[in-house]
Amino acid sequence: MKIDIKVENDIKKRIDRLRAEISENNRLYYVESAPVISDYEYDMLMNELIALEKEHPELVTPDSPTQKVGSDLAPAGLRLADADIAARNNEFAQYPHRYPMLSLGNTYDITEVEAFADRALKSLQTSFTYSCELKFDGTAICLTYRNGRLFRALTRGDGAIGDDVTENARHIRNIPQVLKGSGWPEEFEIRGEIYMPYEAFDRLNEERRRDEDQPFANPRNAASGSLKLINPAEVGHRGLECTLYHMLGENLPFQTHEQALNAAAEWGLPVSDKRKICHGISEIEEYINYWDAARKSLPFATDGIVIKINELAYQKELGYTAKFPRWAVAYKFKAEQALTKVLSIDYQVGRTGAVTPVANLEPVLLSGTTVKRATLHNAEQMQQLGIRIGDYVYVEKGGEIIPKITGVELDRREPGTVLPVFPDKCPDCGTPLVRDEGEAKYFCPNEDGCPTQIKGKLVHFISRKAMNVIAGDATVDQLFNLGYVHSPADLYDLDKQKLLTLEGWKERSAQRFLDSLEASKKTGFDHVLFALGIRYVGETTARSLARHFGNIDALMAAERDTLLSVEDIGEVIADSILDWFRQPEHLHEIERLRNAGLKFTMEEENQTSSALEGLTIVITGNFSVSRDEIKSLIAGNGGKNSSSVSGKTSYLLAGEKPGPEKIKKAQNLGVEIIDEARFRAMLAAAGVRHEPGGSGLERENLPAQTEKTPEQPTLF
Ligand code: IVH
Repeated sequence: MKIDIKVENDIKKRIDRLRAEISENNRLYYVESAPVISDYEYDMLMNELIALEKEHPELVTPDSPTQKVGSDLAPAGLRLADADIAARNNEFAQYPHRYPMLSLGNTYDITEVEAFADRALKSLQTSFTYSCELKFDGTAICLTYRNGRLFRALTRGDGAIGDDVTENARHIRNIPQVLKGSGWPEEFEIRGEIYMPYEAFDRLNEERRRDEDQPFANPRNAASGSLKLINPAEVGHRGLECTLYHMLGENLPFQTHEQALNAAAEWGLPVSDKRKICHGISEIEEYINYWDAARKSLPFATDGIVIKINELAYQKELGYTAKFPRWAVAYKFKAEQALTKVLSIDYQVGRTGAVTPVANLEPVLLSGTTVKRATLHNAEQMQQLGIRIGDYVYVEKGGEIIPKITGVELDRREPGTVLPVFPDKCPDCGTPLVRDEGEAKYFCPNEDGCPTQIKGKLVHFISRKAMNVIAGDATVDQLFNLGYVHSPADLYDLDKQKLLTLEGWKERSAQRFLDSLEASKKTGFDHVLFALGIRYVGETTARSLARHFGNIDALMAAERDTLLSVEDIGEVIADSILDWFRQPEHLHEIERLRNAGLKFTMEEENQTSSALEGLTIVITGNFSVSRDEIKSLIAGNGGKNSSSVSGKTSYLLAGEKPGPEKIKKAQNLGVEIIDEARFRAMLAAAGVRHEPGGSGLERENLPAQTEKTPEQPTLF
């Protein structure tokens, strides 16, 4: 009996953790356009959750990610990584979808495609055909045409309600505003994918690197990020394209999906010419095999094949589950792989103390980039792979950002390979490692004494999404190594005298750093809570907690049940919070931060103003923050950002190294030229409290800043 309860508890914990992980990854994918795991890894998490819920239906809850389509709608008040997207908070009107916008059931296994065909045959009891199509890797769009004109474009949103991106869609080259020919229904919807061809993607990322903006991880994220820009003209410059693959409407005059798409093509709508009607599983397999190889020479990304029952009457007969159509399935391609040799294995300690094994590899080319290091995730994974130093291994891109090792080529194992030994002590501070129940990773428990963890926590504390202090790893290293800073509260005790002893620091850089720290005191409680670095309390959880409790004292006093009643907080997170606040040194740290003037109470969320209402501002040059953040500040405060100077321009906002042409034109037209300080003063005068860029400081004269996702080990 006891054992049963324990097993039950473990399963509940695992389900809890899977849900939290999937929800966070949904947010990163759909809202931030910045996923950190690959589709494959995501699908594996989801499959595990589906399997567990199937075995334990009593544990299914209506808010489980298995019951919902992921959402690209940004929660109100969210401060996002990409200011392009952040600026549009509440910018887009939202409309309900006339027909729910569902996803597709997907598989990596051809036998499941066969099972799909068998099921359909059994259900329909008659012969039918399949439409096989490329699965375009972009972001879904739903276009409505009324009387032959583009009426509305909605994103998928949460499947029920989408963001109205009509104005942006009008700037996408191949979306017609007006249909050609004749015979279209008075009103119909056509759904498809907005994607960014490789060439446009490379160009955009080059531009972003030049402007010191974070490049997009892959064309899919670039497409979804770009579709949600606030400036439609800017969308037009991003080189997005559209392909349409599903027509819907009342009484459509077609018998088959193929006829509908052929008609759409005649009306001038962009429809893929790579479609093929197949008559059975062998033709489907032929199509899959052909495109698995041929897709590598396409100018855009595809991630699989979609197989649909072609006859509309049969589609209707098969219908839908809550999430997917029963008349279609997606076969997903596995990510590209490369074979290379393991030279050595490092064990990296992250800010939470998690130890990640990372392999150093003989450099190899993979999907356009040279890979030198790849993650092995954890000890279990290493054991499962049976990896040895000197082995040839297969490398894949995980989330298309961090490569990972997926297999060992035993046929190429040479004599002299060495079995790696996972350390039992922290490679940094020597403390014996521990592994918690249900955890895949080993942790260094010396949270407040392990140098890597201390530095990692400091880097996290000052990072952009936390306290947004303008400094980077190098500054943290210097401050820590000199013994000036051991915990975040020490940062607020720094004075100029101390800073001037740092190598390379001058009066100006010291003052700017202090100003930046001062400005960070205005950061909202939700970000302060995130900055504390409590295990499992990411941005979203911190926001939920801050909103729910309103202040740190209420949070600290909360009992387990109260924590569990907060949205998205499960047992694992609740226990981690309780554990964190149980430690006297953490309570002491909070007191010191409170005395330093940090906000531990939630204020009303009001980040926007009409300070710049009626003003058209052109920007040129580099600023203390990215150009996109400046643009988002303009838009967020009611102003209009325009790309060229004209008689209608109110101000030319000029940063470092401004464009001479723009300056000349402004001078000729008598347009007033202002600098960043003046611009921020205009906002401050209107009482704008919270500026996405934080401090209004220039990065240039500060020691090097690197921006990194805090939870990830340094790989490159
Ligand atoms: S048909 C009812 N066809 O993949 C669902 N979807 O992972 C109808 N996708 O939600 C969708 N290429 O955003 C369909 N040729 C294609 C597609 C396609 C890409 C996307 C679409 C879908 C997602 C599922």
